[in-house]
Amino acid sequence: MTGRRTGAPERPGGRVAADFDRVASAYDLLVGLDPGYRRHLRRSAERLRLPGVARILDLCCGTGQSTLALRAVYPQATLCGLDAAAEMLQVARVRPQLAGVELVHGDAMDPTAAGVDGPFDGILMAYGIRNVADADACLQRVRGLLAGGAPVCFHEYSVTGSRLSTAVWKAVTASIIIPAARVVTGDDGLFRYLRDSVLEFDSVDRFERRLRQAGFTAVRTLPAGGWQRGILHSFLARRPATGR
Ligand SMILES: C[S@@+](CC[C@H](N)C(=O)[O-])C[C@H]1O[C@@H](n2cnc3c(N)ncnc32)[C@H](O)[C@@H]1O
Repeated sequence: MTGRRTGAPERPGGRVAADFDRVASAYDLLVGLDPGYRRHLRRSAERLRLPGVARILDLCCGTGQSTLALRAVYPQATLCGLDAAAEMLQVARVRPQLAGVELVHGDAMDPTAAGVDGPFDGILMAYGIRNVADADACLQRVRGLLAGGAPVCFHEYSVTGSRLSTAVWKAVTASIIIPAARVVTGDDGLFRYLRDSVLEFDSVDRFERRLRQAGFTAVRTLPAGGWQRGILHSFLARRPATGR
């Protein structure tokens, strides 16, 4: 299950994206409190193992933290970012490092409707799949945007099935993430939702099964380091080289 808060979206990304809009100006400050945040994104970008010249999509790019990781690892690449929260995108748009990156307002459930079309040589979706209305349908869309044989990385939390990881996640969100969000934004509602959405998200095995059911091959999961080992993962997969 994904942790979405509402049913049919009344705007791209529904209420989740509206909530991200409200914290957009504080988002970079908040993620900066996690010393591993940018390093882990960069590691997932590296794990795509793309050639220098490539066309890469950053799905749910937010303020561009994940796009910056792609830019750092693939300085020659043509990058495109898509997000449903216009205010988050606005932060990305004024970053000098992302000059020339196409940043599109749209829903990850249907990037093509927002004018984002494949084939891409690689796709990164960081902290996104957990939030979409229908994860299975979104995976099908993602596969359809990839060139034959091209890789995707879902950089995502998964703690279900591990008592230790679940306990660490609950402790860190209760003692650090939610209080910090309250201080910085004056409202911890989104971060309570994010905590719960992780607790409700697939186990590693379940998400790997979803990927295979969506037609991906070469599915494998690599861990993050530090305290996030067993909590944050790079879920890697490929569109088959031939066929649909
Ligand atoms: C936790 S942020 C991650 C942003 C960025 N990838 C990063 O690593 O910092 C999640 C992002 O997903 C976006 N999002 C949520 N649901 C979405 C949807 N259905 N389509 C597109 N973006 C969505 C939110 O607006 C938000 O910017």
